[in-house]
Amino acid sequence: MSKPLLIVGGTVIDPAAKREGRFDILVEDGAIADVKPSIRAREGLEAVDAAGLLVVPGFVDLHVHFREPGREDKETIETGSRAAVRGGFTAVCPMPNTDPVVDHGGAVEWVRHEGGRVGLVDVLPIGALTRGERGEELTDFGELFEAGCIALSDDGRPLANSLLMRRALEYAKLFNRPIIQHAEDPSLSAGGVMHEGLVSTTLGLKGIPSESEAVIVARDLSLAELTGGWVHVAHLSCAKSVELIRQAKRRGVRVTCEVTPHHLALTEEAVAGFNADAKVNPPLRSEQDRQALLAGVADGTIDCIATDHAPHTDWEKDADFDSAPFGTTGLETALGVCVRALVEPKTLSWSRLIETLSTNPARIAGLDGDGLIAGKPANLTLIDPKAPWTVEPSRFASKGKHSPFAGWELPCRVVKVIRRGEVMGSDPKGV
Ligand code: DOR
Repeated sequence: MSKPLLIVGGTVIDPAAKREGRFDILVEDGAIADVKPSIRAREGLEAVDAAGLLVVPGFVDLHVHFREPGREDKETIETGSRAAVRGGFTAVCPMPNTDPVVDHGGAVEWVRHEGGRVGLVDVLPIGALTRGERGEELTDFGELFEAGCIALSDDGRPLANSLLMRRALEYAKLFNRPIIQHAEDPSLSAGGVMHEGLVSTTLGLKGIPSESEAVIVARDLSLAELTGGWVHVAHLSCAKSVELIRQAKRRGVRVTCEVTPHHLALTEEAVAGFNADAKVNPPLRSEQDRQALLAGVADGTIDCIATDHAPHTDWEKDADFDSAPFGTTGLETALGVCVRALVEPKTLSWSRLIETLSTNPARIAGLDGDGLIAGKPANLTLIDPKAPWTVEPSRFASKGKHSPFAGWELPCRVVKVIRRGEVMGSDPKGV
């Protein structure tokens, strides 16, 4: 059992408990024991000096690719977990598009077991929606949820078959869990490598239109409305999708959604010079799309920020732009990029940012998301808001060294992550 901790002198930002200000936090037996403006130190307590730091509920990432089993050269559950701790996360949800695909209970149990063996973050697997992610036959949802999946998805690929999507929503409703859709119409995006627009035309690259995402979002909202099932839309990228979801939420459709830090901070311009580090799926889109995503986060249409941490090897990413795989490393830069793109321009308060990184994804993942209140697990992230650093991908804990933010100066850093009362490490010395 971890030693009791007294976190002293920090500024607590906890949207779930509606608390923002100077508080001390007492942690005992891995849980929050007390939160008060001042708690007296006593013998046997290990003090954590949080003066000048922000103390927030641990981040939860609903969307990571840890590549294990099958592509351990790109990332493992261990290296991914290290990257997650550096990024301030206490829980992560790995996608099932591994090799083999996580499409049965045994595979889910293996991922959970390996996550537990590494023991740095809570690893909460997402199971495949269809066998082998082939989009033909639904998996055994009962088996997957029983084994511990928090949601099901064929991420990396869309579920294009509308009848299967209808059945998936109906079936998952019995378990009160979401279907996470990678919204992309394969016939519209076929062969595309970046956003279809002025930049793709200038570079002579085949584009992926925004409609490729929006038509699937529109269909899935319709099916969620029909079935009463819960659809969670992954990595939103365009203005049309945000507006469709805004309207659907007003009608009471059961929909939640996420956006990545890179879609909030970058546009198609990042691809100029054939920069494959900015090749992601869905692609980085126009400035107008980016503004719509920012507005969607600000008004609550977009529930959470998820990294879509998608590491690849150097030899793959260094290939020519057309052949390089989609995906970027994201765990270690997420907070700094979000503060730069959202908090500094005053699009978002710190409190709303923490809601999108911690409270809301925790709730969607089926964790309680009640925040830092007595009796709840002591999952905390300590942030120095005034500690600028320069992104050097070679220093990432992740095996994926490709980031469109290389060379960026980010304004703040994660100092410590505490998971169930245990200090998991600090950046950059610890994990
Ligand atoms: O950029 C991406 N990379 N988007 C996805 O949906 C899948 C991911 C991957 O697995 O590399």
